[in-house]
Amino acid sequence: MTAYLITGVSVVGGEPTDLLIRDGVVAGTGHGLAADDATVIDATGLVALPGLVDLHTHLREPGREDAETVESGSRAAALGGYTAVCAMANTSPVADTAGVVEQVWRLGREAGLVDVQPIGAVTVGLAGERLAELGAMADSAARVRIFSDDGHCVADPRLMRRALEYVKAFDGVIAQHAEEPRLTEGAQMHEGEVSTRLGLTGWPAVAEEAIIARDVLLAEHVGSRLHVCHVSTAGSVEVLRQAKARGVRVTAEVTPHHLLLTDERAESYDPVFKVNPPLRTAADVAALRAALAEGVIDIIATDHAPHAVEDKECEWAYARPGMLGLETALSIALDVLGPRWDLIAERMSRVPARIAGLAGHGLDPAPGVPANLTVVDPAARRVIEPAELASRSRNTPYARMTLPGRIVATFLRGEPTVLDGKAVK
Ligand code: DOR
Ligand code: ZN
Repeated sequence: MTAYLITGVSVVGGEPTDLLIRDGVVAGTGHGLAADDATVIDATGLVALPGLVDLHTHLREPGREDAETVESGSRAAALGGYTAVCAMANTSPVADTAGVVEQVWRLGREAGLVDVQPIGAVTVGLAGERLAELGAMADSAARVRIFSDDGHCVADPRLMRRALEYVKAFDGVIAQHAEEPRLTEGAQMHEGEVSTRLGLTGWPAVAEEAIIARDVLLAEHVGSRLHVCHVSTAGSVEVLRQAKARGVRVTAEVTPHHLLLTDERAESYDPVFKVNPPLRTAADVAALRAALAEGVIDIIATDHAPHAVEDKECEWAYARPGMLGLETALSIALDVLGPRWDLIAERMSRVPARIAGLAGHGLDPAPGVPANLTVVDPAARRVIEPAELASRSRNTPYARMTLPGRIVATFLRGEPTVLDGKAVK
């Protein structure tokens, strides 16, 4: 195993130091470290962060390998500075059995670029009718702890209650896609002034807020853990704030796109901006940013949702919702939060690792810690070219935008997955 000496690097925004990586761990930190056998990486001006952890990634395998595979998504993740991703269950077949979650987990290990932690479905086939085999998935080799029907809401309150009760036994968490389906039938975009003007059926903020309000009450009643996926409205932030103040065990995520883009993008009718939940108003964006800084929203999660060309480059009404996210998330975070490295480490690595229970991830580089880390050039600016992305899909909403920051290197347990900004394998 090659040793690496990263010199002059700022660890999470601190004073420049050297980092020695050997045998899978951070072997030493300090000034003027030497190691004859180590490959030296001059990181003057660069920042080292704990490897990023994504709680919400769609990898599309099994079933839609034309859009993404575990391997291509893992490579996109590594290039984005991630060392672990949680793979959503809405594959085909759905990840609702021990067999499917073990398959995804095994594919992740074979790719070896990030740790792929499968998420299990809450209900059989995501149909919202019967609980899936949560216990069998938890006991499987994949050791599933997060369950989600993401893409669909667990709308039946009785099923949601039973799911929360079930996972309590092994401190699991239900990650809810909060969307009251009766309020969003036929919805094409955020319900508001822009949808009225464009004549598109709206997805009202209350459809999200009503489910979050119900679910925090259920989680409180059961005493179980709830995680809210892709929070998108100012009203949801207020519901979460109140629940947290009461001590409810609830965590929440926001996506990069909901932190940056607004519903006015729909005016272009370019389906690359179609996503679920939809892009909201500038006031919602401002509330989400404030909630993230404050901690009412715990983490940034990408909702990386690759889609094949035929599912995206068509009429708005027929296009699938979803956007790529893994390769641009850190840049969007830098753009939105500025170089607040401790906050970025908290929201994109330490807290998501804790929510997912991923030991060895989310730890700041320090002696003895597993060398899961990423090295960022904060001064770099790059133009996003869809054709250059490692994802098999091209549906980035940031095409040809200039974004700050570049991932220079990523290490997974001491092995580089990215060097010089390029994937190692
Ligand atoms: O935009 C979305 N795309 N939202 C979801 O909830 C699911 C995801 C997907 O799977 O494409
Ligand atoms: Zn979702």
